[in-house]
Amino acid sequence: MMKRDILSITDLSREDIYEILESAADLKEKRKSGESTEYLKNKSLGMIFEKSSTRTRVSFEVAMTDFGGHSLYLNPKDIQVGRGETIEDTAKTLSGYLHGLIARVMSHETVTKLANYSTIPVINALSDREHPCQILGDFMTIMEYKNRFKGIKFTWIGDGNNVCNSALLGSAIVDMEFTVACPKEYRPKTEFLEKAKFLGGKFKITDDPKIAAKDADIIYTDVWISMGDEAEQEKRLRDFASYQVNTKLLSFAKPDVMVMHCLPARRGLEITDEVMDGPNSAIFEQAENRLHSQKALILKLMG
Ligand code: CP
Ligand code: NVA
Repeated sequence: MMKRDILSITDLSREDIYEILESAADLKEKRKSGESTEYLKNKSLGMIFEKSSTRTRVSFEVAMTDFGGHSLYLNPKDIQVGRGETIEDTAKTLSGYLHGLIARVMSHETVTKLANYSTIPVINALSDREHPCQILGDFMTIMEYKNRFKGIKFTWIGDGNNVCNSALLGSAIVDMEFTVACPKEYRPKTEFLEKAKFLGGKFKITDDPKIAAKDADIIYTDVWISMGDEAEQEKRLRDFASYQVNTKLLSFAKPDVMVMHCLPARRGLEITDEVMDGPNSAIFEQAENRLHSQKALILKLMG
């Protein structure tokens, strides 16, 4: 069987996504009922993290434990990459030991290289361009709350960043209506908008959060300062000041609007405590669903 890499959410078709969501729901049931799921016994997953992580790291590690397999956390500072061994040689070497590799990288090019030079499946665990694993967990949560994608109005408020790119492309694949509200200079790059258009995506862009929030079924936000953007902190805090997801903004959306955030959040900046802990928040279910959806993904690629 040909190995498959998931570097972008667009590496999955609509059918793949539905299959993963179904399998994820089944794995969630099994976990809750304590049923054994040792489907990846004696298999090993390598995990390279060039940036911090709570959810992605822990959920992939637990996923491998649940499957009866093993995971290895590989800090670039501790492996020889940190001393100059090439990504190409690292990828070839790791392919001889592991059955899969996830990588959270500063530059998307690194995960692309890892994929190109390994013979095992490689999964993007967040890059500067995309965060496909996040979107799978998000889609699982949307299905649980709304039971459909078609006709759902998904509104992104804030930075047109990596998570936004995957949400935009993913929405195009599953046919959700996508609106993004952000200051002009932080819009998703043209290449992502064009790709979404090519995939048949329906999307709108505005710099007015209230217009974007109108009648929304989902309001999604993320940090204003992503990992790697720290040098722009002051400018970003100024530029995004009017893009906070708060009770006032929610009043423009549908009464049963679902509030989402990939986490980690900067409470009091992009989202208020009131909204994050309020009745419309699906945020911690979303975080839990990272586990179930990633289990479905690695089972599909490594099983
Ligand atoms: N959402 C997300 O990827 O969280 P971590 O950075 O904690 O992995
Ligand atoms: N956009 C954020 C997501 C963190 C999960 C970042 O890249 O830091």
